[in-house]
This record gives sequence, structure tokens and C-alpha cells, in this order.
Amino acid sequence: MLTNYFTKNNAQYTMHNALCTIHCLTKLFMKISLIGNGKMGKEVIKMALERGHELVHVFDVDNINEFTAENLQKTDVVFEFTQPESAFDNITKCLDAGVPCICGTTGWLDKMEIVKKRCTDEEKTFFYASNFSIGVNILFEINKKLAQLMNNYSNYDVSIEETHHIHKLDAPSGTAIYIANQIISEIDRKNSWKLDQANNKEIKINAVREDEVPGTHTVIYDSDVDFIEIKHSAKNRRGLAFGAVLAAEYVQNKKGFFTMQDLLKN
Ligand SMILES: NC(=O)c1ccc[n+]([C@@H]2O[C@H](COP(=O)([O-])OP(=O)(O)OC[C@H]3O[C@@H](n4cnc5c(N)ncnc54)[C@H](O)[C@@H]3O)[C@@H](O)[C@H]2O)c1
Repeated sequence: MLTNYFTKNNAQYTMHNALCTIHCLTKLFMKISLIGNGKMGKEVIKMALERGHELVHVFDVDNINEFTAENLQKTDVVFEFTQPESAFDNITKCLDAGVPCICGTTGWLDKMEIVKKRCTDEEKTFFYASNFSIGVNILFEINKKLAQLMNNYSNYDVSIEETHHIHKLDAPSGTAIYIANQIISEIDRKNSWKLDQANNKEIKINAVREDEVPGTHTVIYDSDVDFIEIKHSAKNRRGLAFGAVLAAEYVQNKKGFFTMQDLLKN
């Protein structure tokens, strides 16, 4: 059947179609569950259903008694999008139940090493991204490269601005922290980040909460003579949901701790 695709006249177009068909035929369809039926969780489920996956359970505070190992084990993968205070306990339950977990909840990074260690020692599966957007992850690559260049130019100071909707609980965003840490590892004259006020060794992060903004991140280099800015603005949550579902597809039959860097290099 696929040989019909490769006709003389439209080889390039049909090659694309053939690759899509192969992808669909080989894609592993998954049974999925969600912890945290909020704005992001709903968008992830919508995307997963569009991609042909099957929804088994949705857990939230009103049916938390159903969030058991037995129910978790009925699914191939669990998405976790709740809040900073509950993420680690929810992840622990998924790891205990031996079910791969895709987590996007921000604001709990102090416990990340425990999760990493469990993945290595006990061969568990966990995927974390502070931001699942492919566009933001491309911004991360540019941010790293720009910081490497700026290490030699001390006449530029660097700051970060992030803007999110008024319902966001943590500040600064996990994405802004990731961007700051990338800069700190490349620029010798910076050693930490700080919200609002910063001294010359710190990177100032300005966190703005406004209306229903899905998420904007800007890195600003300022000198006496010019500005350089790199900026990503999400138009909606669809790009984030797409990345989360790709992550779930990616971890099928894999063990370990994964991030967007693993996903993007494949
Ligand atoms: N990584 C990413 O790409 C990405 C993108 C968007 C949001 N986020 C993060 O995801 C998290 C959720 O964001 P949101 O905008 O969907 O928030 P939200 O407030 O709309 O939804 C959170 C949901 O979690 C539920 N919840 C809270 N505690 C719970 C618990 N213990 N057990 C089960 N459910 C619980 C709440 O009832 C709510 O329905 C936040 O930390 C946010 O920063 C990450």
C-alpha cells in the first residue's frame, strides 16, 4: 500500500503522508489518567483524546479516595498537573504503584532529587518539564547560547520577566527559574536569581500576574547603548498540552528520569 505514495510527480508531498501513516500505524495507543482536573489537565486530556488515547480516570480533590494504586495500575501513564503542595505526594503514589508519571506541576523542585534517585535505584519512569511547549524549549537553547556569548561582555546586565494569568500560585514561574539557572551556569558574574530586587551578582526576575495570560517569558540584556531581548509568548495552552502528550508517548517502554531535552534529541 505504501509504495503507492511514491509517485514520480509528487514524491515530496507523498513522502510526508507516508511518514505520517507509518507514525500512526506504529504509535502506541495508551490508557491514560489525570491527577488535577484544572485548566492544564483538561487541555492535556483533550489533546490525548485527539491523538487516539483512552481516558481511564480523572482524579481531583472531590474524588481523592479513588486515587489508589489499584486504579492507577489500570493505566499506562498518569499526567500530574495539580499544585506545588500536592505534587510530590502524588508523584510518590505513582512511583509506588509503578505507573509512569508525566508531571508539569511547578514550585516543588526542592524534592526533585528524591524522585530522580528513585527512578535510578528502583527503575521507575518519570518525566518532568517546567514547560512542555516545544517553542519554549527552543527558547532555552537560544538562551543558553546567548548567555555563553554574554559571558565576555560585562557591560550587559541581564534580567528576566515572566507574565502569567492571575490564578498562578507560584512566582517566579518554573520556566523563569530554569532560564535563570541556565544563565547562571554560563555567566561567571551571576551566581543566583532574585524576585523583584537584585544586586549585581543576582539575576532580577520580574513576575507579573495579569488577566488570563497563558505565559510569556522575556530575557533582557541591557547595556548603555542597546537592549537585546529574546521572548516567547504562548497564545494558548494547546502547545503545552501537545508537549505533555508527546512526553507520555515517548516514555512508553522506557525506565528512568526524563526531560524535554531527552524528547527533543530523539
Ligand atoms: N509544565 C507545564 O508546561 C505547565 C503548563 C501549565 C501549568 N503548569 C503547572 O501545572 C500546575 C496546574 O496548573 P493549572 O493551570 O491547571 O492549575 P488549576 O488550578 O487550573 O488546576 C489544578 C487542579 O489540581 C487540583 N488539585 C489540587 N490539589 C490536588 C490534589 N492533592 N489531588 C488532586 N487534585 C488536586 C485542583 O482542584 C485543580 O482542579 C501548576 O503548578 C502550573 O504552574 C505547568
